[in-house]
Amino acid sequence: MSYRLRIEPSGHELDCDSDETILEAALRHGFNIPYSCRNGTCATCKGRLLNGTVDYGDTEEKILSTAERNAGLALFCQAIPLSDVAIEVREIGAAKDIQIKTLPSRVSKVMDMAPDVRAIFLKIPATERLQFLPGQYIDVLLKEGGRRSFSLANAPGDDALLELHIKRVPGGMFTDHVFSTLKEKDILRFEGPLGTFFIRQESTRPLLMVATGTGFAPIKSMLESLFAQDSIRPVHFYWGVRHAEDFYYQDLLNEWHSRYAHFRVIQVVSRPESSWSGATGYVTEHIMRDFPDVSAFDAYICGHPDMVFSLSAALQEAGLSPEHIFADAFVFAK
Ligand code: FES
Repeated sequence: MSYRLRIEPSGHELDCDSDETILEAALRHGFNIPYSCRNGTCATCKGRLLNGTVDYGDTEEKILSTAERNAGLALFCQAIPLSDVAIEVREIGAAKDIQIKTLPSRVSKVMDMAPDVRAIFLKIPATERLQFLPGQYIDVLLKEGGRRSFSLANAPGDDALLELHIKRVPGGMFTDHVFSTLKEKDILRFEGPLGTFFIRQESTRPLLMVATGTGFAPIKSMLESLFAQDSIRPVHFYWGVRHAEDFYYQDLLNEWHSRYAHFRVIQVVSRPESSWSGATGYVTEHIMRDFPDVSAFDAYICGHPDMVFSLSAALQEAGLSPEHIFADAFVFAK
């Protein structure tokens, strides 16, 4: 059984199962409302119930008083709808609204994705959560000092298990460790979320998403978030790599392609072997050939600085104004 949940003032509407909290439903559908602990102790998620009734769960009097309940307030990490409900809460659309934390995490899984790419999944303590916007990154804090930046590859709906895609850089202190000695149950400390490369959910413009190599990670987070929201914004995703074997998550891409008519993926290989029958060359050439006029898009670009800067310049020349170009240029963390 489920109830209808309306979020004001945005007007977003979604289903909330009768056994899930309002916060869980919002995150599951890709809508970011403020929270931190998710266990009823910080009050970050306190907001107004405009109509409908809820079960307040384990809400403690000192966090939400009876007077506050009578005035229509609730903790959305605890409140479970008993009817259709409307709430008033400002959806988070800016990085400055999110608390940056330093947390320990435990490696829960390590997966080889491509010859030089590993995905690691980090579990954060049960008493903590990491709220972030799709596209943001974290800094892994090294024991030896220093930090390494990696984009979060999962959508914010799962904020207890973080996914990173790590490219091996020969001789790189951290990436050599990831590829040789890092194992499940190891502890990594990190700071985050960081960065302003996140999807602007309020826009309705079609999307041009572009990645090279592991620049796919933040794009994956954005796409998962859009699909969770049932967004129908057209998406053209261009992914460039050197060799076809550098692509990963092919099954996921195929699934998205067959499930979402508004999603198109173009995979481009710059140094193709004879067995590759898809697009060749560089993503910038393909995009500019496919779209002589790009003025209607929002563009999200993540990858090697050469690609990011040349594509940004080409898009502007083809009519896209800079405020619709969001870019994250990176060199691989060592
Ligand atoms: Fe901390 Fe709800 S998120 S009380």
